[in-house]
Amino acid sequence: MRIGLIGLGRIGAFHADTLAALSAVEELVVVDALDTAMKSVTERIPKARAAGSPDELLDAGVDGLVIAASTAAHAELMLASVKRGIPTFCEKPIAGSAREAASVRDELEGAGVPIQIGYPRRFDPAFAAARDAVRGGSLGRVHTVRSTTMDPAPPPASYLAVSGGIFRDCAVHDFDAVRWVTGREVVEVHAVGAVDPSAPAELYLDNDDFSTASTLLVMEDGTIGVVSNTRTNARGYDVRLEVHGSDDSVAAGLDDGLPLRSTQPGATWPAGPPHTFFMDRLAEAFRIELETFCAVAAGTVESPTPLGDALRTAWVAEAATVSARERRPVRVDEVAL
Ligand SMILES: NC(=O)c1ccc[n+]([C@@H]2O[C@H](COP(=O)([O-])OP(=O)(O)OC[C@H]3O[C@@H](n4cnc5c(N)ncnc54)[C@H](O)[C@@H]3O)[C@@H](O)[C@H]2O)c1
Repeated sequence: MRIGLIGLGRIGAFHADTLAALSAVEELVVVDALDTAMKSVTERIPKARAAGSPDELLDAGVDGLVIAASTAAHAELMLASVKRGIPTFCEKPIAGSAREAASVRDELEGAGVPIQIGYPRRFDPAFAAARDAVRGGSLGRVHTVRSTTMDPAPPPASYLAVSGGIFRDCAVHDFDAVRWVTGREVVEVHAVGAVDPSAPAELYLDNDDFSTASTLLVMEDGTIGVVSNTRTNARGYDVRLEVHGSDDSVAAGLDDGLPLRSTQPGATWPAGPPHTFFMDRLAEAFRIELETFCAVAAGTVESPTPLGDALRTAWVAEAATVSARERRPVRVDEVAL
């Protein structure tokens, strides 16, 4: 297959390596707004060749497109790709705001072209096993789900300025994981945020954003979700999920790389070294996710994260953004269109 890849920054350059290592991918056609980003990928990866522009790439006859450009470019690129009939994978979030995401849905509904939105936790073997435990009934009645995504250090100010804020950019992974693992929808959120007082204003304050946030999720069956996020977890990249039920409890992400130092006398776990970033913690999940996309593009499987499903996650992020800014609980149907 020939796969196109637009955007070769932190995640795009990583996806280029992952895609090139897949046996289904014969050629990668890549483009980025920055020549330096393109050069570093085409020089490193023999399967990669550069296109002159996104339009040139879209007209190059690729079998599928991966969009890993900045969030602000997602909607326009997705519309251009799907309207040409190209099966499209787009990194989360669908767009800068859920309102814009809804207009993408309205334009593309019925297009008949598969779209997969990038939520890698759905492909992490431990998250999948937690979901199987819920579905298999071994946990009994699930009452609490805790989901955590903590970055070791903030991304650059240029990234944060167009990210949509911590709920749409980071917590959205947890909102999606809680929905996917429980199979239940979120009906109400209570979110709070705080700003690291030592951070320059251009990182958070200027963007009406937060460096640390917590969100309580009330699910349709009364299950409570507890989501924790920060941009400043110096010990490492912390991605985990716990599901507690009336009969049993399970956790995904409790391996020796868990970035926590136990203060329990005599404890030797976790043995470390801590996970440093998504590239090591979620490498296998990204590989399975992109391998799945190749199968989606080949028409052998359905998209596991279609637009409508991803949009329901986006509404939760929207409700959390409003909740933290206005300091009040927000029902998801108040913001959903
Ligand atoms: N699934 C995940 O776990 C995960 C992790 C990180 C980032 N992301 C998402 O991936 C996207 C990129 O994040 P990143 O950290 O790589 O950002 P980044 O800023 O490092 O890279 C973005 C790249 O896109 C390029 N670009 C922007 N607009 C473009 C356009 N119109 N055409 C071509 N190139 C364009 C930029 O030049 C840059 O190289 C974001 O939407 C982010 O939310 C997802």
